[in-house]
Amino acid sequence: MSRPSLIDRLAATHAERARQSLLRRVRNVEAVDGAHIWLDGRRLLNLASNDYLGLAQHPALREALAVAAARWGVGATAAHLLGGHRDEHAALEDALARWTGRERALLFSTGYMANLGVISALLDRDDVCVQDKLNHASLVDAARLAGCELKRYLHADCESAQRQLDTCPDAAVLVASDGVFSMDGDVAPLVDLAALCRKQQATLMIDDAHGLGVLGSEGAGSVAAANLSQDDVPILMATLGKALGVAGAFVAGSATLIESLVQSARTYIYTTAMPPALAAATRAAIDVARFEDWRRDRLAHLIEHFRAGAALHGLALAESRTPIQPLLIGSSAAALAASAQLEDAGFYAPAIRPPTVPEGKARLRITLSALHSESDVERLLGALKAALA
Ligand SMILES: Cc1ncc(COP(=O)(O)O)c(C=O)c1O
Repeated sequence: MSRPSLIDRLAATHAERARQSLLRRVRNVEAVDGAHIWLDGRRLLNLASNDYLGLAQHPALREALAVAAARWGVGATAAHLLGGHRDEHAALEDALARWTGRERALLFSTGYMANLGVISALLDRDDVCVQDKLNHASLVDAARLAGCELKRYLHADCESAQRQLDTCPDAAVLVASDGVFSMDGDVAPLVDLAALCRKQQATLMIDDAHGLGVLGSEGAGSVAAANLSQDDVPILMATLGKALGVAGAFVAGSATLIESLVQSARTYIYTTAMPPALAAATRAAIDVARFEDWRRDRLAHLIEHFRAGAALHGLALAESRTPIQPLLIGSSAAALAASAQLEDAGFYAPAIRPPTVPEGKARLRITLSALHSESDVERLLGALKAALA
């Protein structure tokens, strides 16, 4: 018998990744202090967090969490359909539906699970999922799990999406896109995608993990900023672990959609409900995110300041107006070296390498937060210039 060893095969892949400067490393954060983290005994300005509004350590969220934990305990103890769904979850679903202007919302324990659950509930083998080339891995994996045909279109290119749709005029189609692209920071052509889907009788799903809280009036997200209704974007998904500073995710849409997902989304049915105290903390986060506009204003100012400074220093930023400000470097080795040099200068900006981004497009994914200050941005620009000189 010559059966290959799975562990040996994994070890060989690991060695090859190391050779190509592609190994990932888990780092232990020893403490968090506002916009700073402690790593290996050093205090670093954190430029890798998705806590865009600075809510993860907000006193109102901590308080809501503690009060709810005192009332409910820690765990939900069961799946939503088996006694795990508490008043806190119901109240959060209502608050999310109101905020995003949808009839109903349904909680999932993570964004990854929300995407898997929705897409595999909607699509069968004979169906087609049309996706942007730069979509988040969870959307791509979801289509694979559904077993449908996956067709990719050129990034943010509606004509390319149209060409893919034209190849399957008789199939049921879901078009799925990030609202704000997680590694590039640009916003999808939402209005054109919605028009294309209407024309092609395809269903549009937007993953607004990085738009919710940041874009649109009261931070209702990229879809709201584009003035698109529930009819235009029937399936809206977003996460609670980024601008809202907590954890988990939701899908929002018509009552029919949500009721059907309750019956058929396996990642909703076969998993423990999120802890009720997290639901309470998320509700507190929504209040801050919706009504403290100054956080978005400050973020917008920092983004402008950073981009203007980068232009002055000749730094090659991607075309993004959101807090995700990627600095393209190219090779994985060069991105790793730049990241290490920044760390020596007191900044945490890990290198993002393939397969998370396409080959030859390794980068520093710099994320700004309302926790940062103008002088943080200026020091960062100086350090970037030195690291990339
Ligand atoms: C666009 C996008 N969708 C989904 C996810 C997954 O969300 P979660 O971290 O809650 O699993 C992420 C990142 O984590 C993301 O960036």
